Amino acid sequence: MLIIMMLAAVLGGVGLSAVLLILFSTQIRKYAGGGICRSKARLDGKTVLITGANTGIGKETALDLAGRGARIILACRDVEKGEEAATEIRTRVGGAKVEVRELDLADTCSIRAFAQKFLREVNSLHILINNAGVMMCPYTKTADGFEMHLGVNHLGHLLLTYLLIGLLKRSAPARIVVVSSLAHNFGWIRFHDLMSQGSYHSGLAYCQSKLANVLFARELAHRLKGSNVTVNSVHPGTVCTDLVRHSTIMSLVFTFFTMFLKTPREGAQTSIYCAVAEELDTVSGKHFSDCSPAFVAPQGRNEVTGQKLWDISCELLGIEWD
Ligand SMILES: NC(=O)c1ccc[n+]([C@@H]2O[C@H](COP(=O)([O-])OP(=O)(O)OC[C@H]3O[C@@H](n4cnc5c(N)ncnc54)[C@H](OP(=O)(O)O)[C@@H]3O)[C@@H](O)[C@H]2O)c1
Repeated sequence: MLIIMMLAAVLGGVGLSAVLLILFSTQIRKYAGGGICRSKARLDGKTVLITGANTGIGKETALDLAGRGARIILACRDVEKGEEAATEIRTRVGGAKVEVRELDLADTCSIRAFAQKFLREVNSLHILINNAGVMMCPYTKTADGFEMHLGVNHLGHLLLTYLLIGLLKRSAPARIVVVSSLAHNFGWIRFHDLMSQGSYHSGLAYCQSKLANVLFARELAHRLKGSNVTVNSVHPGTVCTDLVRHSTIMSLVFTFFTMFLKTPREGAQTSIYCAVAEELDTVSGKHFSDCSPAFVAPQGRNEVTGQKLWDISCELLGIEWD
């Protein structure tokens, strides 16, 4: 009898939850969608480079900025997937100027080759969006022996930015958007074992790399003062994309709770906002989420850590960037 009553209670609870979800689905979706970029700024004559733009947040960012008239360059490790995205953008935005270039952020030779060709063939760059990312992958190393999260999410983008900074300065006013994450709150920079060789946890490695994104943006902002090139970091929200492909648990959570997640289009809004909003013309070194200023964890505001990470990163990449 007790078991039947408990079963009835559970079924009743599930049923009630389902009814409530259906009844309030519009409100839930609206809330989950988060902030919207309301700027109508046009980007005619401007050039935008977006890494990892063949899918997810990057593709939606590209689609929006193409609609504003910019020349969009999708930097993708898989050119075929990039071309598919470019075709889709051209179909959805009449007259879109979209092109694809090969860039593997897990290989500094690829980054250097990309930049060399880019600097030869493209004569201005107004917006750089460091969007590409990997999350919770098994322990792997980049071609240069860096732990994959730190190598792709942080070091690869740092090198790319370094190689293109001259062009950005010559094209000023220009903006750099660094796509980080709320996950930076749970990260710390493990200077004693930056490449996680001593111990590895895929979630913590992701958090470390996203904290590195925040620290990089803040440190770069200091160094770019007076150049008319701004740099800000972004948390896009929790967005239903392929990012969680390496984690079965996260994939299941994302599948079951899709309704509570942002769509890629919604997830792109803060990147778009930081790229175009008129009120951010001179704003640099800040962190945004839902198209508003967002909290930065204390370890993301620590200037000593930021400078130390900058120095070590440059040393690892064999570059001098003062
Ligand atoms: N989704 C979220 O909930 C969420 C939350 C916070 C922050 N973010 C951040 O948002 C950014 C975009 O992620 P997303 O959610 O749109 O994920 P996604 O759909 O998986 O897109 C990631 C992109 O990065 C590319 N990429 C991965 N490794 C690369 C490499 N070595 N070289 C060049 N490109 C590479 C991927 O290319 P392939 O398609 O070839 O793999 C893909 O285009 C990431 O930086 C992520 O950390 C996402």
